[in-house]
Amino acid sequence: MARHGCLREMYEASKKDDWPGIGIVSRKFSLKTFHDELKDICGFFPDDTFDTIRIIACNPFQSTSIAESFDAHPMHTDASFSVEQLEKFVLHFKRLDENAGGVSTFIPVQWLLDKIPQKHKEILEQVKFTYARAGSKGNSKPAAAPILQWKSAIDYVFRWRLDDKVRPLAMDAHDIDIDNAINWVNQFLINTTPLMYRAQRDDTILIDNRRFLHGRTALSQSSSRIVWRAWIK
Ligand SMILES: [Fe+2]
Repeated sequence: MARHGCLREMYEASKKDDWPGIGIVSRKFSLKTFHDELKDICGFFPDDTFDTIRIIACNPFQSTSIAESFDAHPMHTDASFSVEQLEKFVLHFKRLDENAGGVSTFIPVQWLLDKIPQKHKEILEQVKFTYARAGSKGNSKPAAAPILQWKSAIDYVFRWRLDDKVRPLAMDAHDIDIDNAINWVNQFLINTTPLMYRAQRDDTILIDNRRFLHGRTALSQSSSRIVWRAWIK
């Protein structure tokens, strides 16, 4: 992880080849300033479901969004249902969990690629999956795309989400080999100790959504944690 002095510096660093994939800026923002700076620096990823700056507060009565759940978030990439690939997003930690819950967790996709058996990897590269969300109002046309897409010999995109709301569904084919590949990835992510970052209040972290899966630990009961999330260009 790399520390930066301001959002613009962090974003510029994220475009360089040597960027480690996660950056941090510690600075207090109002919602308007946060929005306006991001709009000016990079602009926002087109999305028909969430606000440009999504205010994520936890709600014990929610039933549709895992982001608002108190449970731990399993490893995933954001916007897995989107036709256009989301490359980067930011999280701003406006208010922390009072009891040290909600620690950010990350697993580099490369760790998975280093271990995955070839037969499973080929399924991820060749079979198109969709991450359609049951009962969703937006995202009427979820992407049908391989989980692992190579943009060049070294540059890839990874789409992943598997939780109690959404899971990868093979579009045309369905067989035991596909199930085995999905199960292997899921077990790998469950059994791998992630990188962890305990965000401080007013931290903004920028994450490479192609090369890192992310999640968080569970929140404490009645946590008042608030995170602002923005999908950016
Ligand atoms: Fe996420």
